[in-house]
Amino acid sequence: MAKNTVATLLDMKARGEKISQVTCYDYSTAQLVQASGIETILVGDSLGMTMQGYSNTLPVTMDEMIVYGRSVVRGAPDAFVIMDMPFMSYQLSAEQGLMNAGRLIKETNANAVKLEGGAAVTEQIRAIVDAGIPVCAHIGMTPQSVNAFGGFKVQGKGEENARRVLEDALAVQKAGAFMCVLECVPPKLAALITSKVHMITIGIGGGAGCDGQVLVYQDMFGMFGDFVPKFAKRFADIGQAMIDGFKAYDQEVKAGTFPEEKHSFPKSDCSDEFLAKLAEEY
Ligand code: KIV
Repeated sequence: MAKNTVATLLDMKARGEKISQVTCYDYSTAQLVQASGIETILVGDSLGMTMQGYSNTLPVTMDEMIVYGRSVVRGAPDAFVIMDMPFMSYQLSAEQGLMNAGRLIKETNANAVKLEGGAAVTEQIRAIVDAGIPVCAHIGMTPQSVNAFGGFKVQGKGEENARRVLEDALAVQKAGAFMCVLECVPPKLAALITSKVHMITIGIGGGAGCDGQVLVYQDMFGMFGDFVPKFAKRFADIGQAMIDGFKAYDQEVKAGTFPEEKHSFPKSDCSDEFLAKLAEEY
């Protein structure tokens, strides 16, 4: 498979081909994503919830993002890997955003960064893009603002809010974003935004009218029950398959049927005589 790039992804949009994106946080899962042919991986700060057990994404740090991101890039060299900028790594200023975006790219070898917010973060987007780092924006329901929203709620409801979300999309595009996540944006509005922009729109709870879709993989596979959003679809029951596998292992360990001889290294054992002598000595 050839490496996915900004150009190949924009070509897909131009041809009307849908773009797939999933979250991923580790090497072995990244290898599986790459084998599936999915074009883009988001190392989302959702890892704060799915991998670290926090109730929201706010505690995630730059150093943590870098550890997860490096592992993903090593596992999926052909995917286009986007690193989420964690809460308070870009909100202070364009300089702070540029410095941390640079760190994410330098220290993970990923291909782009994502940051949340519309018109409010255009200076940051412009500075990062000017430094040669592709930016994916994220508007609508932006989880880092969960406290301001009073929960993970649909955004863009009502005429005034719909206009604001469209204006956010146009603002981040003008600032240089090549891609934009539309999270929990009502479907007709998301389709309208998609028709008005040349950047790629990626929906999550934004309906089928976006250029592509992203999901958190634990939501797709029944692997995370703390919070299951309405937009998540179960594509396989890996969570239950893992519980069944853990149970079967536990039973075999307790019954003594695992490990069998083939799971150890009997040829490397010393003679029975020597082992008997060893047992006597100690
Ligand atoms: O952090 C994340 O996984 C995200 C997606 C839900 C878009 O931002």
